[in-house]
Amino acid sequence: MYDLEKFEKTLKETLSSERYLHSQGVMYTAGSLAMAYDVDFQEAMIAGLLHDCGKLVTEMAQIKACERWGIALSPEELAMPALIHTKLGAVLAQEVYGVTETSIQDAIRYHTTGRPHMSLLEKIVYIADFIEPWRGSGSWVDETRKLAFVDLDKAVVKGTESKITHLKKQNKTIDKMSIKTLEYYGGISMSSIETAKNMAKITYHALEEKKGEEITIIDISTISVIADYFIIANGSNEAQVRALVESVEDALEKEGYFRKKREGTHNGGWVLLDFHDIIIHIFDKENRLFYDLERIWRDGKQIHIGDL
Ligand SMILES: [Fe+2]
Ligand SMILES: [Fe+2]
Repeated sequence: MYDLEKFEKTLKETLSSERYLHSQGVMYTAGSLAMAYDVDFQEAMIAGLLHDCGKLVTEMAQIKACERWGIALSPEELAMPALIHTKLGAVLAQEVYGVTETSIQDAIRYHTTGRPHMSLLEKIVYIADFIEPWRGSGSWVDETRKLAFVDLDKAVVKGTESKITHLKKQNKTIDKMSIKTLEYYGGISMSSIETAKNMAKITYHALEEKKGEEITIIDISTISVIADYFIIANGSNEAQVRALVESVEDALEKEGYFRKKREGTHNGGWVLLDFHDIIIHIFDKENRLFYDLERIWRDGKQIHIGDL
């Protein structure tokens, strides 16, 4: 197992003293929650201790470290620098501290925003960050502390709601992943049509990237309750159909959208991916012509990617 004392020594040298104390608080809180929920408490303590290892003293130092480790930052991340340390931290955990478990790296990566479908360890670190003893007290902290040992998912909702309220009060931008976390764990519901549009865009670009042919978007929201959009595309051979399916699933999952079901196989010539609000059909050439979904769904409205 890892040498916690050595980790603490390195952390002390790279973080401010307040941040170091907070990290210790998160370590012990995560360890306690892990015991309560039957999760490996050593993993939880390491993830807790290292969760802010990317929070180098200044934002500039964090950005420079990202450059050094080849971590690309999106314009969105640069506009919300509070998110940079999570991405950096996951990489530093591996490169500097030698932590190889992806479960720990993911707990570090998502400790600020959460995400839908979190593992128990991810939830534990996410909550421990909110409630560790040095966070002081106040109504929502106290409530989240009580909930944390009774119902972790409810604690996720409480913590995320209070964070979003706090950001709103300060007129700060709220990152999309926090909203998805709140939505997934039952706090609020984003407008479903906006969600569907966003998913359709991600799908379109994922198909385009793998050279999907004749990508068609059909708005079926007014003629069917099964979904808002159908997206149809084809590959020229079996390998391309498989690549298109993987590209779409990866792209949507990365943004926190999880598949409800998949039907068909790439060697069968037709794969259906059901993502609740959108349904994606990926064919080989022959099957696309044979099934001719555009004709079957001709009452829907074919739309251009620019209309989304
Ligand atoms: Fe953090
Ligand atoms: Fe933190």
